Amino acid sequence: MENRRLIKIVGTGYYVPDQILTNADLAKMVDTTDEWIVTRTGIRERHIAAADQATSDLCVEAARRALKNAHLEIKDIDLIIVCNNTPDTVFPATSCWVQAKLEAGTVPAFDVIAGCTGFLYGLIVAEGLILSGSAKRVLLIGGEVLTKVTNWKDRGTCILFGDGAAAVVLEESRDGSGMLSSYWKADGTLTNLLLIPAGGTQKPTTLQTVAENGQFIVMKGNEVFKHAVKRMAEAAEEALRKANIAKEAIDLFIPHQANKRIIDAVGERLKIPKDKIYVNIDRYGNMSVACIPVAIAELRQHKKIKPGTIMVLDAFGAGFTWASIVYKW
Ligand code: UT7
Repeated sequence: MENRRLIKIVGTGYYVPDQILTNADLAKMVDTTDEWIVTRTGIRERHIAAADQATSDLCVEAARRALKNAHLEIKDIDLIIVCNNTPDTVFPATSCWVQAKLEAGTVPAFDVIAGCTGFLYGLIVAEGLILSGSAKRVLLIGGEVLTKVTNWKDRGTCILFGDGAAAVVLEESRDGSGMLSSYWKADGTLTNLLLIPAGGTQKPTTLQTVAENGQFIVMKGNEVFKHAVKRMAEAAEEALRKANIAKEAIDLFIPHQANKRIIDAVGERLKIPKDKIYVNIDRYGNMSVACIPVAIAELRQHKKIKPGTIMVLDAFGAGFTWASIVYKW
């Protein structure tokens, strides 16, 4: 551990669209209630992108805020990575739309697509590229406009999702702070439990796929729930073991925000006190890859992260994919 080179976050920023959709609004759209949504998910409201806002627009706003927070300009960045599951276009990558809007010249840009775990996969990829010398300073963004791929007639999914983006600026650490360990896994045999079935090369868009709502998210929620609890607990345990850090030393546990009951169950399995677990699902719903970086940016804004703070990031998502990162600020 002692000699390991580390990368660290030197700037954070987030952006959520202005428009808010409350549970009361949803109760007018589908057969549901505020009480059901709050007790079964912990969600009270979520932010919704405007008709003319694409994922790249949210990412650009978050990126500008992260650069400002780092006291840097776009010319100081030499790689842009955008983690998302809701691209602007099937191709090219959303990162290329973002790169152009940020006027980043010819800086390389690519996407990481790994379900809700995408941002943690992105951190691990960025770590490898910085430590290998391929990039010096990376702008890593997680952004989603999930509400444009949501079936607003499916009460089992439409209550869950919200839109948002967050960005971090990453570089090699010289002071012992940063990403101490990571653990990442996937199980592609379970793809069918959570996916957008049509619009790709398996099932290209036709009038038939549209009639069947194949362009929207389909999820077997209760199946996903069970895997999420088990895998998130496993990931955090393994990342802590790799960092040689005891659970008692954790200051902040920052889980993916898919369902408050998943967060509670993972916290109980890991025996992490509730006051160390960050929850913002009540205000944002599930923003997929944006959940964890928005949480980090909010925590920094509220001065809840100080030098030396030990954080565990933990996520699970479509694929299935899951990962955890132990990070010392
Ligand atoms: O981001 C990573 C991936 N996503 C997740 O991790 C999400 C994981 N899953 C979940 O969060 C939960 O499974 C849901 C919130 C999606 C659903 O909660 P659940 O406790 O698993 O409910 P269920 O699907 O087992 O459904 C229980 C009942 C059903 O009625 P019956 O068949 O018992 O009569 C559903 O039709 O609740 C009904 N139901 C609703 N009722 C009111 C489902 N959605 C709603 C709703 N309002 N919005």
